Amino acid sequence: MLEIKSVNLKRSAVDTLVVPVCEDQDIHDDPTVTSLVDAAKALEEFNGKKGERLTLFAPADTRIARVVFFGLGNTANLTGETLRSVAGKAVQHGIHCGLSRLTLATPDAADLPVDSETIFRSLAEGAILANHLFDRYKQEKEKKPLKRVVLTGSAAQKKVCADLIERTAAICQGSILAREWVTTPSNEKRPEAFAERIQAVSAPAGLTVKIMDERWLKKQRFGAMLAVGQGSSAKPRLVTVDYHPKGAKKTLVLVGKGVTFDSGGLNLKSAGGIETMKMDMAGAAAVAGTLLALARLKPDLRVVGVMPLVENMPSGTAIRPGDIVRTYAGKTVEIGNTDAEGRLILIDAMAWAIDQFKPDTVIDLATLTGACMIALGEKIAGVFSTDADLARAIVASGEATFERCWHLPLPEDYKDLLKNEFADLNNMSSSRYGGAITAALFLSAFVGETRWAHIDIAGPAWIKKAADYCGAGGTGFGVRLLCDWIEKMQA
Ligand code: BES
Ligand code: ZN
Ligand code: ZN
Repeated sequence: MLEIKSVNLKRSAVDTLVVPVCEDQDIHDDPTVTSLVDAAKALEEFNGKKGERLTLFAPADTRIARVVFFGLGNTANLTGETLRSVAGKAVQHGIHCGLSRLTLATPDAADLPVDSETIFRSLAEGAILANHLFDRYKQEKEKKPLKRVVLTGSAAQKKVCADLIERTAAICQGSILAREWVTTPSNEKRPEAFAERIQAVSAPAGLTVKIMDERWLKKQRFGAMLAVGQGSSAKPRLVTVDYHPKGAKKTLVLVGKGVTFDSGGLNLKSAGGIETMKMDMAGAAAVAGTLLALARLKPDLRVVGVMPLVENMPSGTAIRPGDIVRTYAGKTVEIGNTDAEGRLILIDAMAWAIDQFKPDTVIDLATLTGACMIALGEKIAGVFSTDADLARAIVASGEATFERCWHLPLPEDYKDLLKNEFADLNNMSSSRYGGAITAALFLSAFVGETRWAHIDIAGPAWIKKAADYCGAGGTGFGVRLLCDWIEKMQA
């Protein structure tokens, strides 16, 4: 769908040319683009201010049918994210107008505050991600995705960036897949069905997929995970997706919370709280999406995705507050609240994965707590780790990808809040404060000495209203973040 191409804008016939414009400085080198920008800025209504848009039709001395200018504000604002956004807006505008192709004038002036790799990568990301529409359930498709986006660039740049574009496309494919799954309604992704979907896309990509059923989980004594699943008529599954290149020296395990619907269980959620709980498998979706991307990126380490899939439902067979379960690791847990189910499935999956794969590092992604959203809002994830370097690296990848993360603490003394009279631990804190922290501390009791980070994505996994390069619904948060972190770890 996307390519870098050298285009002679003075002579070539172009359908739609998109031109990002800064207010204070010309960010283009091509004389045709520069004179078009001058013509646009000569008009009262356009100065290149952030958020401005102007369309000129059939400008003189060109064979361009229309030029759409997007204002970016001052050049100092030119970052990976503003470029992702402008490419996303351009694609959305193109889709809205019913176009099938766009040519985007890549900013290429000397002295820009971003390097040319970041420029191409960000524009490609924004364009590819914005071109995804979730309309599977609409009988009448109002919009059609674009067929082609061209980023202008020299033949030399095309060659240098070919690999970059292929990698970006691979990562975006993973994000889009995660978005699709998160937005898919729970009636079509109950644990067995979701497991099969993961297998259906992962196996053809060359990944090794295993689906473990309830009998296997019972035999392996996944007591906490089974307890969460026991209220539903759809039985739990554990899925592993293994990327295992020859000669790999390190192993990374990625664990994703896969609650295909979180009703809260007998501690039933309120009408407002339950509404979007089909998204409670976003951790698992991000892990599966990341593995699909890695199959194309081919990093030099083993990465195993581990996805515990359950449906949390109230029923005559559901777990009750006060029940005590024996976890895979052997520790017992009293169920203080059946709505704190994510941590229960994660501890069994993580403890088992550590036994099974002896990983160097474990990272889990989970829509774990409403408290994390209270702390950081809807766009920033919380990162917890006993390894400060690991947390720092994840936060840095969050900056690079704009899948933003904030490092939160794991204070030793807060562990007292999880103490229980009758069992080794309670799954709920005795304090109503610091819920994201106590949830993370609960997880930490099951990872031993293994290098581990937990990313609470309760906020950013979902958006209510479409943004510049993401439609409403699942965001795919975590795929770009993890791929960036893995790529940098390799470097
Ligand atoms: N899935 C929820 C957390 C959540 C809330 C994700 C809102 C996305 C948006 C989780 O299972 C949950 O219910 N957590 C409880 C824990 C509490 C009972 C200790 C919470 O955050 O209220
Ligand atoms: Zn819950
Ligand atoms: Zn949940």
